[in-house]
Amino acid sequence: MSSNNIETIVAQKIAEKADNYEPFYIIDVQQVCQKYVQWQALLPMVKPHYAIKCNPNPTIIHALDVLGAGFDCASKDEIDRVMDMGVSAERIIFANPAKFESHIAHAKLRDVKKMTFDNEDELIKVARIFPEAQLVLRIITDDSQSMCKFSSKFGATMKDAKHLLKVAHEQGMKLHGVSFHVGSGATDASAFAKAINDARTIFQWAKEDYGYEMKLVDIGGGFQGVDGVPPTLRDVASHVVPALEAFPPGVQFISEPGRYFSAKSHTMAVRIHSRRVIRDDAGRPVKVLYYVNDGVYQSFNCIFFDHQTPEPSIVPDASRPDLLAGEKVPSTIFGPTCDSMDCICKDFPMPLLEVGHWLYFPNMGSYTTAAATRFNGFAGAVTCHYMWGSKLLEGFCDVEDAIKAPGSCCEPVLKIAAAPLVPAAAATPVASC
Ligand SMILES: Cc1ncc(COP(=O)(O)O)c(C=O)c1O
Repeated sequence: MSSNNIETIVAQKIAEKADNYEPFYIIDVQQVCQKYVQWQALLPMVKPHYAIKCNPNPTIIHALDVLGAGFDCASKDEIDRVMDMGVSAERIIFANPAKFESHIAHAKLRDVKKMTFDNEDELIKVARIFPEAQLVLRIITDDSQSMCKFSSKFGATMKDAKHLLKVAHEQGMKLHGVSFHVGSGATDASAFAKAINDARTIFQWAKEDYGYEMKLVDIGGGFQGVDGVPPTLRDVASHVVPALEAFPPGVQFISEPGRYFSAKSHTMAVRIHSRRVIRDDAGRPVKVLYYVNDGVYQSFNCIFFDHQTPEPSIVPDASRPDLLAGEKVPSTIFGPTCDSMDCICKDFPMPLLEVGHWLYFPNMGSYTTAAATRFNGFAGAVTCHYMWGSKLLEGFCDVEDAIKAPGSCCEPVLKIAAAPLVPAAAATPVASC
């Protein structure tokens, strides 16, 4: 959807809502699906497992389920969320290297076998609770060029990996594969190839030292989700594909993209409910403080937890055609709570707006609603309106119908959606949409 298009839809929704001033989301499900089609065009040998932590919205999960994606779950609740929507256990990877005992037991109950680990204690814990688990060894990566780094928390070094192979063998555990995460918002595509090469070394050690035939390489998440933010998926694929080609036939490749699928799909609209204008002696506004109904304790937690810098756009006001042409004043936008840290942006140049005007923020689909709180009694944006391109959707059935409609850009992907995880050589590329 173009920004003009989205602006029109946001304005239309505001008009329909009349005196309902709650902030809301417009979610374009087609964007999510187009990302899946793009993935299938560029990395057909890698089966994406959507990291639902990024945005566990059921409609997104449903759309990706219809398209045939797998899912990365990090907890009991996330496992239940996708399985209760009909996703089968073999399409899930329990990708948390430090799991509660009770969650491992729950994974066993629901037959979710694939799970990651990165240390001896975790290995022994899983061996005790769920000896049939298919263990995936998470290794450390060079995440120095990523927005959110994980290597200080997770990942075995190559030296640790050698030792863990031995312990797994002693415990009689099945070593199923190797995983990694290059960090969320990775800017260096070569980090993927380096980690894949490390995974291949571990495959070789496992076979030479213990006769293990490992089956799975999980290249994690870290793929950018917003247009114009490098590297593109094509750039990443140019590093990943040759590195994966060095594995023996029969090895399965999966990934755990989060932001890649959801970032672009959400636009959020918030309303200015209060303002404070600071004027010079001549009465001219020199600075304005605006207060809106979602902030850093709600969706804008992405500013702290995901290092984002959301920029507002102004929803045009039909009664004020002159609005956007007004002289720009440094404007600071605060969220609704009483905390001064609840600040969305500082000194952003905007024409003078009034109480009752609306702002919208594009690309709000990742690490936003997922971690929103109700601090100070403010819920933030909880209402979602679903779109398919520029068409309004009513619910789940509409999503499925839109995906399966003749001529939908999802058509080529649906043909292969029913297939289980495919060995690299059998993967089918499709045309990008
Ligand atoms: C284990 C794991 N996999 C996948 C992801 C998704 O990462 P991204 O949204 O960067 O693709 C995360 C993010 O925290 C993660 O911790």
